[in-house]
Amino acid sequence: MRLFRCGVLCCALALVLGGAGLAAAAGPIRIKFSHVVAKEAPKGRAADRFADLVNQRLKGRVEVQAFHNSSLFKDREEIEALQLGAVQLLAPSTAKLVPWFPQYQVFDLPYLFSDQEHAYKSMTHPRVTARLFPLLKSRGMLGLAAWDNGFKHMSSNKCPIVKPEDMKGQKIRVQSSKVLEEQFRLVGANPQIMAFSEVYNALERGVVDGEENTLTNKYSQKMHEVQKCLTVSYHGYIAYVVLANAAFWEGLPKDIRKVLEDTLAEVTKWQWELNAREQEETLKKMQEYAKATGKFQITVLTPEQRKQWAVAFQPVQKKFESAIGKDLLDLVYSLAK
Ligand code: LMR
Repeated sequence: MRLFRCGVLCCALALVLGGAGLAAAAGPIRIKFSHVVAKEAPKGRAADRFADLVNQRLKGRVEVQAFHNSSLFKDREEIEALQLGAVQLLAPSTAKLVPWFPQYQVFDLPYLFSDQEHAYKSMTHPRVTARLFPLLKSRGMLGLAAWDNGFKHMSSNKCPIVKPEDMKGQKIRVQSSKVLEEQFRLVGANPQIMAFSEVYNALERGVVDGEENTLTNKYSQKMHEVQKCLTVSYHGYIAYVVLANAAFWEGLPKDIRKVLEDTLAEVTKWQWELNAREQEETLKKMQEYAKATGKFQITVLTPEQRKQWAVAFQPVQKKFESAIGKDLLDLVYSLAK
């Protein structure tokens, strides 16, 4: 049963009253780690690895449980739930933070990152976190680490998508970010914000024609089974911020907090390596699926074709420069090799 059906406030209260907090004292401290992707996706595997390691290292004192696939809360609701203390850890994509903190839209800008290293530096550089983490704190959340999901690509049932004009009139699901909406408007598409948990059904029923996402997100949700084509475009990026409820985290005994933070650092390193491998392997799996079924067409854009998309998307940057902050934008660009 998905608890979010009763509304975030009611579920959150039930979870808080159900003894999630430190005050409930007897027994181990319970940490609920909620996220929206599949258990097998790089984020799901890292959440499980973090839980397993902590549960071994702090046996009897702390119990971490990962909730996969929006089984506790959907996108927006999980962020509200964290603020209310109904869950203690999350790892939302940066786009999910945009409704509260428009500065996070910097990471949604098309063709922003040159490679994974640029993404890593941008998500973890002390000058970037010094700019963004205090915003999180103002809403009762603590930024603990950055996890990766890699480059986004486009898929649709109106195919093929090779040139920006091919997007004309297409209904495309996007995450909750105005930059992403504008990006698709610029190429004549009709963007629709929708929670991740609803995308598969929306594609299957034709509520939207397509969506943009990482290969592991598409594959682990079986979106390729309800899409006719994939365009390997590398046009955007998904990275995650591992977030804690600030009051909960800061109230933990120091020795426990140290083990949690050391374990998180270890899992974070593992997660970035895992993600890079998984994106590559997933492309191969999709190519095999395409070949075996004949029902799925994959186009890998050439550097020249990617340039056409970059030019078409270019105006979005100027439009959002002040919402993001020019200094932050310049800083992120300066971190490219
Ligand atoms: C999406 O909503 O498409 C992604 O942010 C899901 C995720 O957490 O990777």
